[in-house]
Amino acid sequence: MDSFEINKILGAVLGCCLALLSLNIAAGALFTPHAPAKPGYDVVVQKQAAPGEPAAPAVADEPIAKRLASADATRGEQSAKKCAACHTFAKGEPNRVGPNLWGIVGRAKAAASFNYSAAMKAAKGNWTLEDLDVYLKNPRGMVPGTNMTFAGIARASERADLITWLNAQSDNPQPLPKAAELAPASDRRAEMTPR
Ligand code: HEC
Repeated sequence: MDSFEINKILGAVLGCCLALLSLNIAAGALFTPHAPAKPGYDVVVQKQAAPGEPAAPAVADEPIAKRLASADATRGEQSAKKCAACHTFAKGEPNRVGPNLWGIVGRAKAAASFNYSAAMKAAKGNWTLEDLDVYLKNPRGMVPGTNMTFAGIARASERADLITWLNAQSDNPQPLPKAAELAPASDRRAEMTPR
């Protein structure tokens, strides 16, 4: 093989390399890979309520005073059946899994002769209408560590019905707000104007 032949072969190899290189550059220019701003991809998981925890309400509840004004004690008595496995409601009835609830509205927290949890014993004040509403919505949310293993009543109007009925199971039921009392001030002024 003379040097001319070798030059031809080397030239072919070099030309080939050059062609491959320019092809690579051209391809790089055509297909620029875009690096994602955030590596990986999002796995969308819907937040689910833990078992026993009521699902988060989509809208905020109306204030309890407003709901009580249109509540119904008869419906409340029906929903009190949910509590009857653990609570008695009549005067002098024994405790069950939970304490007797006669006169619970306005009663001091953890006031029955009952073996309350430390969490309930530490709870302060009386059972106001507002406190009962919050507790019955999510007992463990309001009193973490309570022994009341009850999921709660998610429906705001049902809690108002139940609290209305509970209020009547008492020696001295508390006055509940009436729809008329919640009327806007302007309406009330109109009522009071002397004729
Ligand atoms: C599975 C049993 C169970 C069910 C069902 C249940 N409770 Fe209770 N409840 C308890 C126990 C136990 C306690 C005591 C909690 C503690 O000591 O932490 C309690 C405590 C209470 C208290 C506080 C009493 C106090 O003296 O301070 C109220 C109010 C109450 N329950 C209302 C209700 C209502 C209303 C319902 C029905 C919607 C209900 N509970 C359903 C077991 C239950």
